[in-house]
Amino acid sequence: MRVLGIETSCDETGVAIYDTDVDGLGNGAILAEALYSQVAVHAEYGGVVPELASRDHIRKLVPLMREVFGKAGLAYGHVDGIAYTAGPGLIGALMVGAATGRALGMAWDIPTLGVHHMEGHLLAPMLEENAPKPPFVALLVSGGHTQLVHVRALGDYELLGESLDDAAGEAFDKVAKMMDLDYPGGPLVANLALQGDATRFKFPRPMVDRPGLDMSFSGLKTATLYAIQDIQKQQGSLNQQDKADIAVAFQQAVVDTLAIKCRRALQQTELSTLVMAGGVSANLKLREKLATETAKLRAKVYYPRPEYCTDNGAMIAYAGAQRLAAGQSDDLTLKVKPRWPLNELLAVNELPEVV
Ligand code: KG4
Ligand code: ZN
Repeated sequence: MRVLGIETSCDETGVAIYDTDVDGLGNGAILAEALYSQVAVHAEYGGVVPELASRDHIRKLVPLMREVFGKAGLAYGHVDGIAYTAGPGLIGALMVGAATGRALGMAWDIPTLGVHHMEGHLLAPMLEENAPKPPFVALLVSGGHTQLVHVRALGDYELLGESLDDAAGEAFDKVAKMMDLDYPGGPLVANLALQGDATRFKFPRPMVDRPGLDMSFSGLKTATLYAIQDIQKQQGSLNQQDKADIAVAFQQAVVDTLAIKCRRALQQTELSTLVMAGGVSANLKLREKLATETAKLRAKVYYPRPEYCTDNGAMIAYAGAQRLAAGQSDDLTLKVKPRWPLNELLAVNELPEVV
């Protein structure tokens, strides 16, 4: 089964085609993909402007789809299903992918399916050669979510804990903004941290002394803001070294907090596989730390290649293909869900039988 995946939940337009059986032996692969990032459109506003995001998706989606069919060597429309991100995300941006996906599904007379964006992230490591097998603990760290999930099987998810306020990526972006860095700030903070003196500032590791797997990053963000304001009071503005010192201390506090919670989640579930996904899982310090922490527990950690950590069409094509192949597809209503708890999803093995 060949599935066209469409991602338009935020500020990247992603398109890909996944084939569930590329070699006749049941091995799946991405046939072609394309991604357009709107970062330049939003950079001057310091964050995503929803209306501009929707308009840009409209401009870019069809040309990207044509590009992907061309790259895959397929005639336009030669797929067996369409998967588009139906939520969570910006409603206008989601509507672009959903309306386009549904319209093409009707025109081409093939099934369509609205995919959960975070399930897409969660399954992205499955696109790698060395793919994890459920059950495992997933750490989902993106710009909008920070969650620990017990993945029993495809679609069978239990939320173990989450950030009660800012997501980790959002905290990275806000700290970047405090230091006048561009949007999205995560990679810029990570880059600055390379030159930082890790001994100059020590920020709190929020909620690590409390039991449970929930997290909070707003206190850390405030502590970082106070440190920035102290420097501003003393010397007017931050120089490059100050920014690097703040960046390294902030990044370390986020990484340590996530690592402590991941360790706890593995111990609590007695699982020995950790999967990380979402934009912040591209962070090298986080990858390094989770590799050492899981090794101590004799557990294994898996993550996607950097391009599949951030938003992309491939993860939506893959997640959609699993469900479409199992017989799930849209009903006659056109729905997008800006908010959509992950545990509302049906497990793939519990889907009603196809008749
Ligand atoms: O998953 P994603 O592309 O979009 C959402 O679904 O939110 O994640 C984007 C987030 C942004 O907050 C960005 O700053 C952060 O991921 N990010 C990083 C890094 N790369 C992206 N944060 C820290 N270190 C990075 N290397
Ligand atoms: Zn995302």
